Amino acid sequence: MLFQLSEEQLMIQQAARDFAQNELKPGVIERDEHQKFPVEQVKKLGELGFLGMMVSEKYNGSGLDALSYVLVMEELSKVDASASVVVSVNNSLVCYGLESYGSEFQKEKYLKPLASGEKIGAFCLSEPEAGSDATSQQTTAEDKGDYYLLNGTKNWITNGNTASTYLVIAQTDRSLKHRGINAFIVEKGMEGFTIGPKENKMGIRGSDTHSLMFNDVKVPKENRIGEDGFGFKFAMKTLEGGRIGIAAQALGIATGAYELALEYSKQRKSFGKAISDHQAIAFKLADMATSIEAARLLVYKAAWLKDQGLPYTLAGSMAKSYASKVAMDVTVEAVQIHGGYGFVKEYHVERMMRDAKITQIYEGTTEIQKMVISREILK
Ligand code: CAA
Ligand code: FAD
Repeated sequence: MLFQLSEEQLMIQQAARDFAQNELKPGVIERDEHQKFPVEQVKKLGELGFLGMMVSEKYNGSGLDALSYVLVMEELSKVDASASVVVSVNNSLVCYGLESYGSEFQKEKYLKPLASGEKIGAFCLSEPEAGSDATSQQTTAEDKGDYYLLNGTKNWITNGNTASTYLVIAQTDRSLKHRGINAFIVEKGMEGFTIGPKENKMGIRGSDTHSLMFNDVKVPKENRIGEDGFGFKFAMKTLEGGRIGIAAQALGIATGAYELALEYSKQRKSFGKAISDHQAIAFKLADMATSIEAARLLVYKAAWLKDQGLPYTLAGSMAKSYASKVAMDVTVEAVQIHGGYGFVKEYHVERMMRDAKITQIYEGTTEIQKMVISREILK
């Protein structure tokens, strides 16, 4: 068993670390405060090849492995989880879904500009009445011969306004239940497609989350992904990989907060010594470091399984449910170690604590991950 990254993986990790420090850190507090999407930074992430990391070079991607993607997610998330969620959605939900299941036409037309970062994508499964219970889709796509007529509302869509290309899940034949669900590629600007106002969120405030409304939108038949009725499986298969990306995001948030707390604890003095010399603080740091390391092993293992072509449903859900809990626990302790300074924005850890929470909610809540894990171990 080799617990060692390759030269190439180390280089990619360093590039992401440098980018996070030099490009994301300045301005991260302001973007959070004003809910500003990191426009320039995302453009540069595209130039670095970080928006189509696992896509083959044939379709303008970087042709890298899932572990490299996880390393990048971790480094970016140490500093700015609002930027890293853009990377996560574009890579593991949109590009992965299109490359794995799209037609040649769809790859040429839609995947190429998404993989190069020229365009941004969104993944649209959740609805006002269908979140965890994802098979109960209310959005309909009526088969009209050479096109589908799309009607309904999607909720909480990441990159909701920034995206140009949307993968939308909708019900075509209700009598077939989840086997009557399809996935479609919808373009911004299609007649009848409108975007709701930006959500005012607790965390990842730089990321733009919107609801989307479809009112008699004509979607050409060639924009359906896969066979008729493949849409729910498409969503599930795509989310399996997405969950590894969010697990890596949680790992990054935890690590970022831990590193800040470690440094702070060595500088801050109370009762004549550094607070890290008080056992209560030193033991907190020990617990934080241990749980982060355990989360890292789960996340890397899930990515490694994916790279080996082995099943990773169980590993991905375990990684996401564990790493997101670690992110919550560690960020709360990081604020505690900072005392009053942890409660103000300049010290970053309060933002990290707010950002950590979303990793327990999106791409399947912790309860849903436990459902997946328990079904896998009991089957
Ligand atoms: N791979 C392939 N097929 C799968 C699958 C998988 N991993 N999981 C389920 N399926 C198939 C099943 O085989 C079944 O099909 P058949 O009957 O043809 O065999 C079908 O899907 C329905 O499966 P279940 O009976 O297990 O469905 P369920 O109603 O019990 O729900 C669930 C399963 C896992 C809970 C699912 O609904 C789920 O994942 N819910 C959470 C939704 C979610 O994660 N949303 C995230 C939105 S995207 C997002 O959040 C992005 C972001 O923030 C950045
Ligand atoms: P519900 O499903 O109503 O769940 C409410 C509570 O009940 C949760 O604690 C849940 O775990 C629990 N629960 C539900 N069912 C069960 C059960 N059977 N057993 C035990 N507990 C259960 N969606 C997208 O499609 N694309 C996106 O890009 C996207 N981005 C998002 C960005 C943000 C900032 C947010 C907040 C959400 C985003 N989502 C996105 C939606 C996200 O995936 C859903 O919020 C999530 O899946 C939960 O759905 P819900 O909010 O409807 O909660």
